[in-house]
Amino acid sequence: MNLRDTLKINKAGHLEIGGMDAVDIARRFGTPLYAFDEAHIRRMMRTYKSVIDGEYGGNGMVLYASKAFSCEAIYAIARQEGIGVDVVSGGELYTAVQSGFPSNKIYMHGNNKLERELEYALDCGVGNIVVDSFREADMLDSIAAGKNIIQKVLIRINPGVEAHTHAFVQTARTDSKFGFSISDGTAEAIAKHVLAKKNLELRGFHCHIGSQIFEKQSFVLAANKVMQFAAEIRDGLGFEVKELNIGGGFGVWYNSDDPELKYEDYADYLKALVAAVKHNAAKYKLAEPYLLLEPGRSIVGEAGITLYTVGAIKDIPAVKKYIAVDGGMFENPRYALYQSRYTALLANRANEPCTEKVTVAGKCCESGDLIAVDVPLPEAQSGDILAVLTTGAYNYSMASNYNRNFIPAAVLVNNGEAEYIIRPQTYEDLVRNDLIPERLKK
Ligand code: LLP
Repeated sequence: MNLRDTLKINKAGHLEIGGMDAVDIARRFGTPLYAFDEAHIRRMMRTYKSVIDGEYGGNGMVLYASKAFSCEAIYAIARQEGIGVDVVSGGELYTAVQSGFPSNKIYMHGNNKLERELEYALDCGVGNIVVDSFREADMLDSIAAGKNIIQKVLIRINPGVEAHTHAFVQTARTDSKFGFSISDGTAEAIAKHVLAKKNLELRGFHCHIGSQIFEKQSFVLAANKVMQFAAEIRDGLGFEVKELNIGGGFGVWYNSDDPELKYEDYADYLKALVAAVKHNAAKYKLAEPYLLLEPGRSIVGEAGITLYTVGAIKDIPAVKKYIAVDGGMFENPRYALYQSRYTALLANRANEPCTEKVTVAGKCCESGDLIAVDVPLPEAQSGDILAVLTTGAYNYSMASNYNRNFIPAAVLVNNGEAEYIIRPQTYEDLVRNDLIPERLKK
């Protein structure tokens, strides 16, 4: 089990996070609850930043991909750590701005940014917008013209590298909904299109090959392809790349099938990428571009755990045993969506040997509402505190109020102290936007 940093089992045999007993946290704040280890988040941010500073002369910036976990506190941590962020909607942008995040360090993504989101982005003064369609380029240019702004943009390139957890394949795929394919010429066509826009300043290119990837070579291959493309654009259109954004996607440990990466391993991923960018810059006689990367999952994923209280237990002899918790797909939809596999333990009995395999079910009204399937645990009792590990990324950010359940609160734990960064919802929150037309009141 990959218990890292402040995640450990204490003398009482309880799970501990951020110097606090997880059982105490559950008692104090209630369950279900997301708990985040601040030290881990900061160390991951610093790990990436130190590679850019040490191996690339500081000529770049780490952007936290905030789709992984977006709330005001996480942007505040990113600000304190001196890194940038990427946002993918007006809502993420608003949250960042509300937290006091400097807008010039915000990069905006999205394959179908809405006109009102682009308007808002320009009003906020976001540093850079990553263009993903011809329509967007036209729309953005005219909005920028209306505001008398020259907006910096990158172009999202699809380098034709498809990455998987256990293998990577090179394809000339053009079937992604994201980006402009190099192989079919649309990447070059959009570059030409953007260069002709009066109110857009093309800074360079962006690519993102996927998520939860462990193969270094996939990242390097993508960097090679985009740098080669940059050289072709220089030769063909006379444009010299100034910024290169190589996306995110570094994998994290969820279960026994995943590698247990250390901080140095993440640094190594980035070092390999930096080396590839430098090598290609020399090879194609390009100036070394300002380098950006956008890790999301690897910054917050392992930093987060979810705490539950075990409720109903259903044992179907010789078939299956369910333990039901007070959460479910409304706060962690990843099993329902991707059949994701997690590691779970009883936080109040963390030292006890696992004696059975159970399925952790949620409380939603559907059979597919599962959190983890076939996880080894000691024999759980109602009232035990179940901790599911590595739930910091894409859990809260994908949560919903399905079945009108509350999206759980989140606490940030550091040096033995925990405090809310997301307040618990109330019944009033659930009906806040509900309206009853007059004719239905009779
Ligand atoms: N940059 C771009 C343009 C992206 O699309 C993404 C993730 C990232 C950066 C951050 O990738 P990361 O470092 O987090 O792997 N909901 C899914 C994951 C979707 C990822 C979408 N894009 C899940 O729960 O696994």
